[in-house]
Amino acid sequence: MATVYAVGVGPGDPELITRKAERILRSADVILAPVSNPSEASVALSTIREFIDEDRQEIIVHQFPMTSDRSRLLPAWQGAAALIAAHAEAGRSVAFITIGDPLFYSTFIYLLRILREQWPQIPIEIIPGISSINAAASEAAIPLVEGDEKMVVIPATAGIEQIKTALATFETVVLLKVKPIYSEIIKLLRATGREQTTVFVERVGSHRQNIMTDFDQIAAHSPDYLSLMIIK
Ligand SMILES: C[S@@+](CC[C@H](N)C(=O)[O-])C[C@H]1O[C@@H](n2cnc3c(N)ncnc32)[C@H](O)[C@@H]1O
Repeated sequence: MATVYAVGVGPGDPELITRKAERILRSADVILAPVSNPSEASVALSTIREFIDEDRQEIIVHQFPMTSDRSRLLPAWQGAAALIAAHAEAGRSVAFITIGDPLFYSTFIYLLRILREQWPQIPIEIIPGISSINAAASEAAIPLVEGDEKMVVIPATAGIEQIKTALATFETVVLLKVKPIYSEIIKLLRATGREQTTVFVERVGSHRQNIMTDFDQIAAHSPDYLSLMIIK
């Protein structure tokens, strides 16, 4: 029985991968990379290219649909878990790679539940990664919290009312998955006077990294999926 590893590969910069993650990525027999769209490259896989050897390691790209419809997601999670389990039971170690950290809004969380329930005999090890939030704060040189301050992380898909409440309650609000309701967020930030205290960060750690603090520029932008906002 081989081990299944969930490896956090950080936000996209290979230099932000831990030494432990690198060691496991170099030694795993199988690397499993999630993608939401089969025609798009896996960000996690592009991040670790230099550490893997395609002649020696099997690279599997597995599609997980970008949807909240559980009837479409469940078969993808179950399929991935079964594939991982089959390799592990055949003695091949598997590294499931994930952007940022594996236990922070990651597909691996669902796989972990299925694996623990259906294949409890398979050993699982989780290697933390630098989350997009920490990387974004560092690149923008903006303190996340200090002293007694409190911070909340909200996937913007939770809705504008939740964001409104959070802005009134916490000193720092981090919004993930901002794309689907971007224009509503912009309206709310204007209405609550957050023009001077909002940082927008897209594709942190990659060659396409884009950091904006000018609110007019932020408002005029059309963000991609890998975007977040830090609001003080
Ligand atoms: C499903 S969550 C994954 C979070 C990831 N596990 C982490 O630890 O950062 C996806 C959201 O994280 C944020 N994100 C992930 N990578 C990012 C990056 N490189 N730059 C900016 N935001 C990123 C975006 O808000 C995106 O919509």
